Amino acid sequence: MRRAAGFLLVLLFGLGALALAGYAVLDRTTAAWFERDLQLRSSLAVQSARRSLVRNWSDRSNLTAVLQDITRDERILGAAACSAAGELVAATQGYPQEFPSAALERRLAEGTAGEPSWSTTADLPMGRVHVSATAVAGEVGPLGFVVLVHDLSFVARREATTRDLLLVAFFVLALGAAVVTLLAARVAWRGWTSELRKALSGGPAGSFQPLVRDVRSLAERLARERHSEAGAGVWGADRLRAALKQHLQGERVVILANREPYIHERTKDGIRVQHPASGLVTALEPVMKACSGTWVAHGSGSADRETADAMGRVRVPPGEESYVVRRVWLTEAEENGYYYGFANEGLWPLCHLAHTRPIFRAEDWEHYVRVNRKFADAVCEEVDSDDPIILVQDYHFALAPKMIRERLPRATILTFWHIPWPNAERFGICPWREEIISGLLGSSIVGFHTQQHCNNFIDSVDAYVESRIDRETRAIVQGPRRTLVRPYPISIEWPVHWLEDMPSIAACRALVLADLGLADDVLLGVGIDRLDYTKGIEERLLAVDQLLARWPEFRGRFTFAQLAAPSRTKILRYRELNERVEALAKEINERWGNASWRPIVMLRSHHEPPSVFRHYRAADLCYVSSLHDGMNLVAKEFVAARDDEQGVLVLSQFTGASRDLTEALIVNPYDLQQSSAALAAALRMPATEQRERMQSMRRIVSEFNVYRWAGRMLVDAAELRRRERLSGRLSSPSGATSGESA
Ligand code: G6P
Repeated sequence: MRRAAGFLLVLLFGLGALALAGYAVLDRTTAAWFERDLQLRSSLAVQSARRSLVRNWSDRSNLTAVLQDITRDERILGAAACSAAGELVAATQGYPQEFPSAALERRLAEGTAGEPSWSTTADLPMGRVHVSATAVAGEVGPLGFVVLVHDLSFVARREATTRDLLLVAFFVLALGAAVVTLLAARVAWRGWTSELRKALSGGPAGSFQPLVRDVRSLAERLARERHSEAGAGVWGADRLRAALKQHLQGERVVILANREPYIHERTKDGIRVQHPASGLVTALEPVMKACSGTWVAHGSGSADRETADAMGRVRVPPGEESYVVRRVWLTEAEENGYYYGFANEGLWPLCHLAHTRPIFRAEDWEHYVRVNRKFADAVCEEVDSDDPIILVQDYHFALAPKMIRERLPRATILTFWHIPWPNAERFGICPWREEIISGLLGSSIVGFHTQQHCNNFIDSVDAYVESRIDRETRAIVQGPRRTLVRPYPISIEWPVHWLEDMPSIAACRALVLADLGLADDVLLGVGIDRLDYTKGIEERLLAVDQLLARWPEFRGRFTFAQLAAPSRTKILRYRELNERVEALAKEINERWGNASWRPIVMLRSHHEPPSVFRHYRAADLCYVSSLHDGMNLVAKEFVAARDDEQGVLVLSQFTGASRDLTEALIVNPYDLQQSSAALAAALRMPATEQRERMQSMRRIVSEFNVYRWAGRMLVDAAELRRRERLSGRLSSPSGATSGESA
């Protein structure tokens, strides 16, 4: 209805504008016609009286009688005879007093010399008149002119009538056109929808051929989502379990990820379980708890061996065992080459735009290949069918998908790359770029956080390996194999189980402030990261420095607590970063601090999740300043922690999270003017605005939680398997996956 009204308005305005333009043209044309007509009539009238005029030119009273004769035409108001010099010789009674005016005299003297006639229009008190002068010549030469004054008021009357008629005609026409067009559009719309409906239900697609495929898959997806949504509400652990059961007949999943979710560490107080500071673990652990199955990972804890069985298996989580961690043991040389070397000194800086040069060593690469094989073998030992679902995680295992595929050709392998994928030119500097891409193309689906990273990956494939890019289905085709490339923005569990027994916001704040030795009324900012050069920790501290320099009101009142978990410390660049951050914090504290207040509190140690969440809840703001980050789950955890709907998130525009959390204060962390201003704005933000922003971000994170992330990938995997099984039945069961997987 609204669309029809809009359409009608546009039509009426369009036709109205056309009618106005038409009226203006018509008006000008008819006025010109009238003038020409009058000029002709004047000249005719004078010509027909020419003899009498010539004869009586020198007799004033006879001349006046002849002029009187000419003015018998009711539209001629008056006539006059003028000498060749423009002086009035004789005039009728109705001849306007104003003529001959000085102007007319001049016109007659100048303009009509040699011309048979001349005319103009003029506005007189009696109305608009047309004035024409026609030359009169006798036997011996020119005598003068006869000036005729015509009434022009009838033209205005005719113009008004024409305008009225035109308006009525326009109105009737516009109405008629609108009704006819609406009717025609309705009929056409009916035709299209019924044709589309027929096409979607399997009939001939006709003119909709190119659209039908897209619409059908969209409709299927919506139906699937709606079906699995029935009675399920938002995505949660139960719904994910149900989806797994429904779409994958309850099949278990096997996850391959370098970092294990529970690390057993030997301490002086005995064995302790540690939860690593890892976005990957934060995201995947709840999925694994919901789905059950096996998580294959590097056993890196000092007490990992003694807590696992002979095969390296241990049931977790401790106390509520619901899945298995299969630990793979690495020698120190393997860990140095594969993890510290190729993964973290090569691929990590290669994929992050953080100005750290990647280091590629041939011996690291050899370890990377060997360790990928070792993990691929472990995965194959953990599966219980020849077409398992395997979730390969991250840049540690770029080669594993192809290796698993060689042993399990029918497996559904979903690989998720948790970090950014650089553009093709940058990726091209890796000496083993072809091997890495080919390894990943062993997957059924390769997922990234953002469409941009998908595009970069597709461009890299295009640039460096033999393949066909199917842009329509966003797939890479190599012979009979097809790998889909899709964005799946990762998230966190909702609700977060760590929050179940959390003290109130006020209690958390009191605990944290007491811990940090801060005054009750301090304004508190927090940053929570692994100590990594991609996180922009130096830029963050410099922004605090600028804040204090530009706005003295925050001196003595604002403290920024940076929780920094030491990470990858065997790598020189991480150790150097440690030192730089420490020195910078000291410098800023010396510049602004005093005996009772420090602007920066550096907590350089591992913090278990309950402590992390306490800090989120105690803070007035959280600043995530990554220079480049695939997603960044700290931002989403902060939002989840704030059930009081208070607190401000200041978020780097270079995180994947900034695409989801648009209500955060989004900043360029390199721009210290902007980021310090954002910190000031956050600290001054009224509670109502904080609430509005936080409510909106909480809605997003709760709805797009990690169960939904996993659900979407698993549902896509199920769809892929269904198609492959169907086409496997039709073609040879050779094990090669069909090209129809999209
Ligand atoms: C990033 C990576 C993860 C990794 C995490 C922690 O989030 O994408 O794969 O687990 O950092 O790093 P770490 O090297 O300690 O596992």
